[in-house]
Amino acid sequence: MVDQFGKEVSGTAESVAVWDAAVLDLMGMRGDPMTPLDQQSAADESFVLGAVFTGAYRILGAGIPTGPEIRQDLDRVGQRRESATKQERSHIAAFESLAAGEFSQAAKQWDQIVNDYPRDLVAARIAHDVYLHVGDINDRLESAERAKQPWSPGEAGYGWAMGIYSFGLEEAGRFDEAEVAGRIALEENPTDCWALHSLAHAYEHLDAQEEAIELLRSNQHWWSESDLLGGHVWWHLALRLIESGDLDEALAIADDLAEGQTAFRLADVTSLLWRLELDGQDVGGRWEPLTQLWSESNNLHTSAFIDMHAAMAFATAGPTPEADHFWNELESPHFRGSENGLLLEGTVRDLIGAIRSYRSENYAECERAFQSVEHDLQAIGGSRAQREILTRTRVINLMNSDEKAANQYLDELLAKDPTRVWIQRAKQSLIEAEHSLTEGN
Ligand SMILES: [Fe+2]
Repeated sequence: MVDQFGKEVSGTAESVAVWDAAVLDLMGMRGDPMTPLDQQSAADESFVLGAVFTGAYRILGAGIPTGPEIRQDLDRVGQRRESATKQERSHIAAFESLAAGEFSQAAKQWDQIVNDYPRDLVAARIAHDVYLHVGDINDRLESAERAKQPWSPGEAGYGWAMGIYSFGLEEAGRFDEAEVAGRIALEENPTDCWALHSLAHAYEHLDAQEEAIELLRSNQHWWSESDLLGGHVWWHLALRLIESGDLDEALAIADDLAEGQTAFRLADVTSLLWRLELDGQDVGGRWEPLTQLWSESNNLHTSAFIDMHAAMAFATAGPTPEADHFWNELESPHFRGSENGLLLEGTVRDLIGAIRSYRSENYAECERAFQSVEHDLQAIGGSRAQREILTRTRVINLMNSDEKAANQYLDELLAKDPTRVWIQRAKQSLIEAEHSLTEGN
């Protein structure tokens, strides 16, 4: 049997139909591909790729690797390895690397599948997503370039591959090219939420306020229905609303997102509240219920990106038994001994030290901790827009404590990113503060 993109898939005709639908859901970031794949994997013992898909995305969703669902996915692919095709066995091996916490290796294995089987769009997409988790921008872009090679306009995979390529370009800082590729992807598949999201990222970094708002507002009727990415697109809209001073609506978005309760939604809410406070806004009593949700999460200590955001909430909540539990559990993360485990035990702990020091107004210690991790932060994963919260925190920390160092750091940031509005604004406020001080003298 072959799937919609021509890949040989082991399993019954029904399994291939479920697979095709799930893959389209993944590409467009909509619906619920996991449940039907789980059911079909249980019903058809010859179906291999369903458990690779569900297992990979459970781990990328910050699932606990020793939890029953991921164990079941691993058991299924292990039992079906013998009857799998060579291509499927490569998928199984990549999934096993991911489950062992060797994320970079897993990304390269999926990438190698694209090399060997150029039209394997699922391998391309998983490689793309794993590279995002390890912050590997260069390999991610190369992988995306490879993924689009075999497709021509009008072919089923072309638009999806262009959406992947667009985000690869965006994360590499090639924003104008990302916009072109993203627009092409949307022409091919008008409700491609991944491509729309890539455009939102490009406009975010270009500070293209009007384009971003227009893009997100005019397409809101469909992306807001996207189960897999709609919540995160709301986060992008909220960033632009904060930029335009529409704080009430940004807070309303944060309140709605908190009801989603997945770890990545909680991260988006945390990010919004933290960023609003960095801008000097009062977020009211929102931290307490959010921290409660974090303390109930089953996705802690598996993902650097998730732990970083959870730490922001716990550091804000102050000393509570739940916060103490979180700090203690940082000492024994999942995936121990692997690439991901070492990241959680190293960079993440230092970064969380910076976050806690910032919250307790220990500014010198915060700066020292930020300096110790500044060259490693890309490895915590997430997008450049998401990680920008750390740069902003460090700027405010310095502005609160050391004007000279703040000036120096802002100059460094402006040298790298001269048109970024928030950096210019921070620099301007320092100049004005200095000026008013001089006048006062
Ligand atoms: Fe994003």
